[in-house]
Amino acid sequence: MNKMIDSFLRYVPTDDWIKNSSRLPWLRLNLEVPTDAISNEAKNLYSRAVLHRDGDKFAHYSHQGWKSLTLYGDNSTTTAATDGPKNWTEIAPVCPNTVDFINKHWIIDGSTGRIRFMWLEPGGYILPHQDRERSMFFETNIAIAQPAGCKFRFLDYGTVPFSTGSSFLVDISNKHLVVNDSDQARLHMIVHATLKPTIIQSSYEQNFYS
Ligand SMILES: [Fe+2]
Repeated sequence: MNKMIDSFLRYVPTDDWIKNSSRLPWLRLNLEVPTDAISNEAKNLYSRAVLHRDGDKFAHYSHQGWKSLTLYGDNSTTTAATDGPKNWTEIAPVCPNTVDFINKHWIIDGSTGRIRFMWLEPGGYILPHQDRERSMFFETNIAIAQPAGCKFRFLDYGTVPFSTGSSFLVDISNKHLVVNDSDQARLHMIVHATLKPTIIQSSYEQNFYS
């Protein structure tokens, strides 16, 4: 192979470009997710979960069955965004496998935001919304339990192909909704922390450069 072409074929963008300039709606991640261990830890906590963004109103409608507990943040029942330093909350000691999984793949430091369990009850839904103006990747969304009939739908880009154990960076500056048309709870985790750059680059490579 011509050396010049060969060097272009070895090129993969930096994680900074992928996060801030790719403008992709989602990126499937190469992550091994210990779904059984995490869902067992979360199951024991479900009775303590609180309604998330209960006050959001869209005309006469509000979200239904959207519940959360915070593993890293202010405390377990403060699930909305807040300013200021954060730390592992009082539920972290009973979630050792989940904490290990987070520490293995994300950089936990002063820039880390909330890390939460997010449940959507059977028949529940999250109404269409956008979470920021600027297009970028930051949060990771991980499907711990994704019953058939659950959809994460970008209005303009379609359905993110979540299945149990899959994880994605999602650009939530794009309008999206979530629905659980099943008889089982959907459990995801949302991690507002910096993913290790090698994971982003290897995921991008696997998606687009094979
Ligand atoms: Fe959202």
